[in-house]
Amino acid sequence: MPTTVARKKDFLSVLDFDAADLENCLALAAQVKADRSLGRHAPTADALDGRHVALLFDKPSLRTRTTFEIAVRELGGHIVPLQPDVALGCREPVADVARNLERWVDGVVIRTFSQKVLQEFAASARRLHVVNALTDEEHPCQAIADFLTLRERLGLGTLRGRTIAYVGDGNNVATSLVHAAAMLGVHVHVASPESYQLPHSVVQQATSVARHGARLRLFNEAIDAVAGVDAVYTDTWTSMGQEAEADVRRRVFAPFQVNEDVMAAAGPGALFMHCLPAHRGEEVTSDVFESDVSVVFDQAENRLHGQKALLLMLLATTVA
Ligand code: CP
Repeated sequence: MPTTVARKKDFLSVLDFDAADLENCLALAAQVKADRSLGRHAPTADALDGRHVALLFDKPSLRTRTTFEIAVRELGGHIVPLQPDVALGCREPVADVARNLERWVDGVVIRTFSQKVLQEFAASARRLHVVNALTDEEHPCQAIADFLTLRERLGLGTLRGRTIAYVGDGNNVATSLVHAAAMLGVHVHVASPESYQLPHSVVQQATSVARHGARLRLFNEAIDAVAGVDAVYTDTWTSMGQEAEADVRRRVFAPFQVNEDVMAAAGPGALFMHCLPAHRGEEVTSDVFESDVSVVFDQAENRLHGQKALLLMLLATTVA
């Protein structure tokens, strides 16, 4: 199977991909998903033979950590699970952690707080491939899984011109979703409370990478944002590190809950999406979460296939 090499050595942001990288990653993810049943006979089973990938998580994770561990193993590579006590920038400078790791491993998957710290880490180690497993600002691996899911559910090759709505906090998940949508020619409607909207810089970035006429529109009301869309996406109202704000956020975000009224205002058969973990009764009702249009566990599964494709594009030298 031909594997395209990514344009950049790192994947810190969807914006590290160009549109061709992103399209190639989605196509490759679909292929490795189809090949998974071949097990050790899959064409990519030894693609990372002799390669080591370290995982450094400063925040909790179920999906991202598990799927990266399985992805590396199923590609024939070795996992180096680092303990959180490495604590980027606390015990020793970020650059020193990076310059140690590049002497031992080929790639590092990092979940941490600051995108700037991640950028400093990646810039400090020219031989090391660095992957963003979530920062406060971006969650690019989630976006790959999200658009793989939409490709599957809305039909191969038909994403251009589709419209999705994101209802809730203009956070890291929303940012990466908007970046990827713009590159893929997908229109996005974002509805958020005042003061919780997408950063202006993200709107500008999306505009600058938009293809095929992709439009980003911001709304004040959920019901307006979802009118006629193909999918409704939401995320937690209180992200990791914001726990002290939880009570305030519950009040401010209450009108932005995705419930049956919101889904009824969306297009016929519109999908419900969530990156998980979900909080039933807050950002989504249990009925919507458990409904037939909910594709949240497809998204979770596709984290694995998307990240395999990403690792192949960043790290694989040869694929049988
Ligand atoms: N969606 C997501 O990133 O899940 P985890 O926080 O469990 O990794």
